Amino acid sequence: MVIFGARGDLAKRLLVPALYNLSDAGLLSAGLRVLGLDHGACDDADFRASLGGFLKELASSKDSEFGRAKIHARTWNWLADRMSYQIGDFEDDATYTALAQKIQELGGAGGGSALFYLAVAPRFFGDIVERLAKAGLARPPRGAFRRVVVEKPFGEDLASAKALNRRLLKCLAEDQIYRIDHFLGKETVRNIMVTRFGNGVFEPLWNRLHIDSVQITAAETVGVEERGAYYDKAGALRDMVPNHLFQLLTMIAMEPPNSFDAEAVRAEKGRVIEAIRHQTPAQALANSVRGQYRAGTVAGKKVAAYRDSPNVEPDSRTETFVAVKLTIDNWRWAGVPFYLRTGKAMSAHDTQIAIQFKAAPKTLFQNVAEGRSTPNVLLLRIQPNEGISLLFDAKRPGPEVCLTDVRMDFSYADWFQHKPATGYETLIYDCLTGDQTLFKRADDIESAWRAVMPFLDAWKSGGAVHGYAAGTDGPPESRALLARDARRWRDLA
Ligand code: BG6
Repeated sequence: MVIFGARGDLAKRLLVPALYNLSDAGLLSAGLRVLGLDHGACDDADFRASLGGFLKELASSKDSEFGRAKIHARTWNWLADRMSYQIGDFEDDATYTALAQKIQELGGAGGGSALFYLAVAPRFFGDIVERLAKAGLARPPRGAFRRVVVEKPFGEDLASAKALNRRLLKCLAEDQIYRIDHFLGKETVRNIMVTRFGNGVFEPLWNRLHIDSVQITAAETVGVEERGAYYDKAGALRDMVPNHLFQLLTMIAMEPPNSFDAEAVRAEKGRVIEAIRHQTPAQALANSVRGQYRAGTVAGKKVAAYRDSPNVEPDSRTETFVAVKLTIDNWRWAGVPFYLRTGKAMSAHDTQIAIQFKAAPKTLFQNVAEGRSTPNVLLLRIQPNEGISLLFDAKRPGPEVCLTDVRMDFSYADWFQHKPATGYETLIYDCLTGDQTLFKRADDIESAWRAVMPFLDAWKSGGAVHGYAAGTDGPPESRALLARDARRWRDLA
């Protein structure tokens, strides 16, 4: 495994911890070698020591997603012994000549399999792949594989995503490209298919006859932090919607695939994205709300306004919150609105999908002493506090008939006695074993961009970016988007 950008944040925060977890679970082969490649000077010993030190820090920090309180020396040493470092400029052919030689040495005579992980800024994706190909590194030797993992963002609009796909596909076959969306590695996201298709009770109700609407929320308490240079150009929609939120949407809306085979699953998910109605500019403006956080307080801490963050333009109009209403034009979902929202510096960290069922007919309990029948909700809690809840009505104990809504909860932490890990474990394991089910195909990426382009295009010439105080649920205008349909957003947990 060759990690381009091995001294960067992604490598130390997510990739190496995931490799540690995989090695602890005994899922890595003894022949694995991990080569870190980056432009900073460093030797093998320092590289290992700095990653090992950071892993310890993660383990001792309470809010880390690493999910371990302790590092076992034996596991870490096993991994560290297999790690080395190579200095290199990504844009210099000499780096790739040296890399080819190194792979030859590490992989034995004839060269072994290699997974190139591009944990680098997106501007390098095309260039690195072309240089790998030029150095003969993209062609797998007999009996071995050569694969490339591409992180997000994959393009910044439809045209750039298409151009990047074209560049990659000139050098690699589709089955060598692993376009990552880390949401797909999350246990709770993978569990959506099991909930729907592994149980008999949900699927018969999973359609326009019984479902009123679907809300998908990814609210974060963190602000833009140190990522202003990237984020100010991207904004909330590009950063989260065509990738992470669409993956949640496809899991909810897809038809049952014929098998768990990668192609079968990806084909069904692709059909959902293709069925998202492309809105006219006027519809796109009416069906979207943008917001940008101003100064405020999040979890008791003062947060500066987005515009005062490092590397953000002082008059930036970039959205840090977005809500959209989408329609899926197919038989199952005709007439069921999908409301999506995501934002930074909000009141709570809460990624959830709420399936709101239709209300029971209003005949029986109209005149009860207290309470009204409320529609059922199936709440898929993606993170934190991972689990599933079913909200339904019950009779309050007592002589009179009083209705109240109650909640039945499944929680990962209680049931399995541990919190799901970051998800990179699954994704790296799948790249190493060649399972593309959780990765995106070229056409998936392009149809997702196609579905959001009407919003991006419409915003170029119109629409407001509303302010919201950090630590709130986004701009009040987002409530109006649902109020218009006589609905309301679920409260953030
Ligand atoms: C990233 C986005 O892809 O996903 C970030 O660039 C966002 O802005 C992050 O914070 C959310 O991921 P998670 O796993 O923390 O919910």
